[in-house]
Amino acid sequence: MNTLLELRAVRAAHEGVTVLHGVDLAVAAGQVVALLGPNGAGKTTTLRVAAGIHPALSGQLLLGGRDMTGANPRDLARAGICLIPEGRGVFPNLSVRDNLLMMTFTGRGREEIEETAFARFPVLAQRAGQAAGTLSGGEQQMLALARGLATDPAALLLDELSMGLAPLVVSRLYEQVVEIARQGVAVLVVEQFAAAVLGIADHAAVLVRGRVRRQGSPDDGLRDELSALYLGSPA
Ligand SMILES: Nc1ncnc2c1ncn2[C@@H]1O[C@H](COP(=O)(O)OP(=O)(O)O)[C@@H](O)[C@H]1O
Ligand SMILES: [Mg+2]
Repeated sequence: MNTLLELRAVRAAHEGVTVLHGVDLAVAAGQVVALLGPNGAGKTTTLRVAAGIHPALSGQLLLGGRDMTGANPRDLARAGICLIPEGRGVFPNLSVRDNLLMMTFTGRGREEIEETAFARFPVLAQRAGQAAGTLSGGEQQMLALARGLATDPAALLLDELSMGLAPLVVSRLYEQVVEIARQGVAVLVVEQFAAAVLGIADHAAVLVRGRVRRQGSPDDGLRDELSALYLGSPA
């Protein structure tokens, strides 16, 4: 496996309380890995450590085999890590076009960014002049993805992509996520409610109280275990 992003024995704390107790995770280029777990398990903290936004107490962060432990968010972004936070991270008062325009800081031109975004998500072209805050939840998530993709990420970290969205909208977004992965991006998808993401994940890990309780292919055994944790019900 061509591991792109790896966390090794990562521990992390909030306000002196340890919430990650040695998390191991690996995502290969081209792969979708689902990180599941109940509310408060430490999923968001794990993503934030991977993006350099939250410090690890110990353990390692590797990117393409390079030790990036302790690197700041900017350097990690430059190295290809892109986190799409819970709540989508779009600017609601700016138009779709201006939300995309901001991504020219990456050095890419406006036209290229728009063309790529509109080709992947044609509905965004129809909404180009609209304030992002007036889009549907699914469209806002598409815009967040389009913004993230404008950075040409090596690893895409998605926090609760499906939150508040109808199942049909979620499955369409997941189709795009799979396509993004197949183009060579390492994708780590965090979800509390697991049903939909297990259908597209190549690998899944279940985090409970800061520990990976189970890790493997998203098969029936893993589904059963999730049901036992009351995670199996659809969002
Ligand atoms: N900013 C914070 N300050 C204090 N505690 C926090 C903060 N963020 C998260 N926590 C705590 O850390 C634990 C893990 O949280 P989080 O990573 O957000 O879990 P998840 O994303 O799985 O719901 C929880 O117990 C949560 O209460
Ligand atoms: Mg969270």
